[in-house]
Amino acid sequence: MKLAITGKGGAGKTTVAVFLAKYLAEQGQQVVLIDADPDANTALTLGLDPSEQPEPISELKDLIAERTGAKGTGGEFYTLNPRVDDIPDRYAVTTDGIRLLRMGRLTKGGGGCFCPENAFLKNLLAHLLFQEDQPVILDMEAGVEHLGRGTAQGVQKMLVVVEPGRRSVQTALTIRRYAADIGIHDIAVVVNKLRSKEELRAMEAQLEGLPVVAVFPFSEQIASADLEGVCPYTGSEEQKALVRELIERVTAVTG
Ligand SMILES: Nc1ncnc2c1ncn2[C@@H]1O[C@H](COP(=O)(O)OP(=O)(O)OP(=O)(O)O)[C@@H](O)[C@H]1O
Ligand SMILES: [Mg+2]
Repeated sequence: MKLAITGKGGAGKTTVAVFLAKYLAEQGQQVVLIDADPDANTALTLGLDPSEQPEPISELKDLIAERTGAKGTGGEFYTLNPRVDDIPDRYAVTTDGIRLLRMGRLTKGGGGCFCPENAFLKNLLAHLLFQEDQPVILDMEAGVEHLGRGTAQGVQKMLVVVEPGRRSVQTALTIRRYAADIGIHDIAVVVNKLRSKEELRAMEAQLEGLPVVAVFPFSEQIASADLEGVCPYTGSEEQKALVRELIERVTAVTG
């Protein structure tokens, strides 16, 4: 299972990503959770201490320069296919059976992203999505920045987390357009922080046919877990049922 999770800032992308990763790990799967949002922090939601966070891959400047062959060329010449297969083992932090990797910030070039760091990150993502068979959960920003056309094909489904409100719905529709541009058409919505059936009906009316595959109700426990700095996933029967249903819906649609 290779899932990319996106959505408006604060909608609950990391919460959903962590729930999926925790649940799959509980089932004995070797999950890779990728923090691909440079402005956020998946490690903290997993309940890790800031000192235990993985090192951002984009900041491994020397390693990247060496692997891409950019060293000594001023970054002008480099390979698009650097070796990355050892990176997950070397740089992931493992907690409760989840391997957490942190992508770090991508440097944007003028007409596109053609720097060695980008080549390295893209290749690492491609490796995880195409070469390794364990589940991969990508906790992304509100967009598809880390995915190029090539890597996008490795994503089985893109989940857009939407909280009640027009702006969150608008972001979902914008993301659908970006995603289509890079070839991702299998996209579905996870409604989060729902407080009433009326809210759900209102959102469904605005989502222009984007299918809703799961609904996570608003939860005081999740909100206060964040304040307390603990992982919001408790493994309660209720939470497990939510995640199980989400996974069933995702795998049923994509086969
Ligand atoms: N179902 C929920 N009920 C109550 N609070 C929630 C729920 N889901 C998420 N939250 C809270 O909303 C806030 C944002 O959640 P989260 O960090 O998962 O969102 P995000 O989309 O990853 O945000 P960012 O864009 O900053 O990465 C957190 O304080 C979290 O505890
Ligand atoms: Mg986040």
